Amino acid sequence: MTADAEYPTAPDRGALVADDQVAAQVYLDPDIYEEELERIFYRTWNCVGHESEFPEPGSFKTLEIGRRPVIVSRDRKGRINVLLNRCRHRGALLCEKPSGAMTSGFTCPYHSWSYALDGRLRGIPYPEGYPEDIDKSRLGLQRLRVETYAGLVFAHFDEDAAPLHDYLGAARGWIDLFMKQGAGYPLKVQGAFKFRHRANWKIQLENVTDGYHFPLVHRSWMANVDAETAEMLSFMKDPRAVTYGLDNGHSVGIFVPEHVDLGEDDGTEPLQERFASLVADLAPDLPPRDVRRLVRSLHGAGFNLTIFPNLALSMGFIRLLNPVAVDATDNAHIALGYEGGPEGANRERLRIHEHFQGPFGFGTPDDSDVWDRVQRGAVADPGMAILLDRGLNREQTSDEGHPWSHITDETGMRTAYTMWKRLMTDVH
Ligand code: FES
Ligand code: FE
Repeated sequence: MTADAEYPTAPDRGALVADDQVAAQVYLDPDIYEEELERIFYRTWNCVGHESEFPEPGSFKTLEIGRRPVIVSRDRKGRINVLLNRCRHRGALLCEKPSGAMTSGFTCPYHSWSYALDGRLRGIPYPEGYPEDIDKSRLGLQRLRVETYAGLVFAHFDEDAAPLHDYLGAARGWIDLFMKQGAGYPLKVQGAFKFRHRANWKIQLENVTDGYHFPLVHRSWMANVDAETAEMLSFMKDPRAVTYGLDNGHSVGIFVPEHVDLGEDDGTEPLQERFASLVADLAPDLPPRDVRRLVRSLHGAGFNLTIFPNLALSMGFIRLLNPVAVDATDNAHIALGYEGGPEGANRERLRIHEHFQGPFGFGTPDDSDVWDRVQRGAVADPGMAILLDRGLNREQTSDEGHPWSHITDETGMRTAYTMWKRLMTDVH
């Protein structure tokens, strides 16, 4: 037997992805899911939230990156830490609370080893069972590398990873535009809807810049909103509504061209009638220009931005995904508002979020249903292609070298799978 025969080489995952399609196996194969955790989620920058979720020392939340539980905490010095949620003694999960505030640290429920907010080991009960000179500095919680951009907090398991700034690349300019929906106020998180849907994570990732499904899957939402809002999202024949594939699998899809840069306002766009009473409430306290700025920002920025692999900045909210199994994905739909802004405007933003993203909303339940159907339908034949060729007949390349086409085309998905293929076939 040759050495090669004894040790079969790993399957070539690159063969599953072509320029215009992928094999349905990428949604279905548990081995591929395991490789994705190792090669994608544990080797790229994952977004873990927004700085406003950790307003003061002692604020924290817990979540998972792949199967790895982590704690995000703000420490006494004001720094944000991302720590493995796993006791250094015998491995117990330290913290089960989804989030909290004013905590002084984390104490393991098993033998009460206690850790500071930055992960340092503070105390060991009955220490006489250990040498007097035990080096506690070597027994702190495992720390992830943390970097932030425009208030978004990202973590990486690899201390030597390339900087977040480089990883985001051209998406940085779009993140800057997204943050302009603060209308002069810092953005803050107002709450989140969390749910699990029964489909592979990539089906949801594909959906973020999929303008094609919007008027079809979201017919009931379009029928339920006022005519002005429905008109605002009628982009099917608008040549300005385009998708760009960006660096490293990121992509952006423009749904409302006049709201791409909310800092620009020539004063000609009429404010929607549905916000008339809010305008009346705001008018006594704010100059007309500021009222316009706030009201025009209520629906969020005019685009959806995918940051590969787990973040979407989707008009007015932040979406984090986490793949919990080959056929199950956890989602957090994080609502945004104006820190220190008018209460009425924050309330209006929450109502808009609930109306589409909420469990009884008109958007997300429809989306989750079709994602679930893709998973169940794809089972029919793992070798059969998932088609990603829509718009190849009209795709162009920008001066910066980015492919672009109409928002109803599949440019964003092709960009994401190019990155997927790179990560799944790179020799590490
Ligand atoms: Fe945490 Fe023992 S497992 S203190
Ligand atoms: Fe949708």
